[in-house]
Amino acid sequence: MWSSVLPLLVSLSPAVLFLLQLPDYTNTQEVTWEDYKYGRSELQDEKQNCSWKCLLFTLQWPSGFCQSLNKENLCIIPESVNNWTIHGLWPLGVMSCCNCWPMFHSDVQELEDDLNEHWPSLLKKASSFHFWRDEWEKHGACAACVEGLNSPLRYFQISLKLRRQFDLHQFLEAADITPSCERPYKVSEVRQVLAPHLGDKHEIQCVKDHQDRQVWFQVKIPLSHNITVGCDHQDHSDGDTSSRSSPGHPCPPHVPFYYYPIDHQQPQRPCG
Ligand SMILES: *[C@@H]1O[C@H](CO)[C@@H](O)[C@H](O)[C@H]1NC(C)=O
Ligand SMILES: *[C@@H]1O[C@H](CO)[C@@H](O)[C@H](O)[C@H]1NC(C)=O
Ligand SMILES: *[C@@H]1O[C@H](CO)[C@@H](O)[C@H](O)[C@H]1NC(C)=O
Repeated sequence: MWSSVLPLLVSLSPAVLFLLQLPDYTNTQEVTWEDYKYGRSELQDEKQNCSWKCLLFTLQWPSGFCQSLNKENLCIIPESVNNWTIHGLWPLGVMSCCNCWPMFHSDVQELEDDLNEHWPSLLKKASSFHFWRDEWEKHGACAACVEGLNSPLRYFQISLKLRRQFDLHQFLEAADITPSCERPYKVSEVRQVLAPHLGDKHEIQCVKDHQDRQVWFQVKIPLSHNITVGCDHQDHSDGDTSSRSSPGHPCPPHVPFYYYPIDHQQPQRPCG
């Protein structure tokens, strides 16, 4: 086995190595005998005990996401995507989900148009369905001990509802904060606009682009167990495997940052 894999690894380009660090889309379809014996939700409770207190709802700005990729040509922003999109809805402090609740395309078929618009994969190599399935299996299945989140369909319905509730574009535009290649924004001014809608504990995250500018990438919104805004969580590191695919950091308070426009033709170079 290894002898056949090793030469392949050696010949991998840096771009492929980067992709290897992304979430593993294979090997998640396991259904154990216990699942059938005890029923999935019981097994879920037993393993996770629904011990998490807070959820993190994370929205990403497509242009910023594309800046986070260190290689050209990995990113795609579909023509229909012109707005903040969902990255995920994550219970906090859960180390790993059990991968025991597989998700199928038919589970979310009725939401597909909405999901394609609001929760698209922005990676050329991964289909949107793969992105959704990965988020469900890594995070959603752990949240399934709460009524209202206890199936793939409900998890994605709630996430879409939250996306409608947190219409960042509209909140920002009302305060004249709009995408621009020239005009940087201060962290304090943006937080002030968002806090009434997202609570005081929201975090705005940046990545550095090729010109070493701080570029707005995503917003993390803490929610309580009952899916209302605000939650006291100590732990800022998501407790989260998705940090592998999520290279953002809190935007530094004293460095103005950019909110780049979306360019569908050149998603990774919207400002040249
Ligand atoms: C689950 O949580 C309750 C308290 O909420 C605790 O009493 C119980 O021991 C926990 N069970 C497991 C298996 O961790
Ligand atoms: C983003 O969505 C909001 C409604 O959710 C809409 O008002 C706004 O125009 C959208 N922005 C763009 C650039 O399409
Ligand atoms: C939701 O949970 C929070 C924190 O536990 C609590 O303060 C709030 O009253 C709850 N809201 C509702 C509508 O139940």
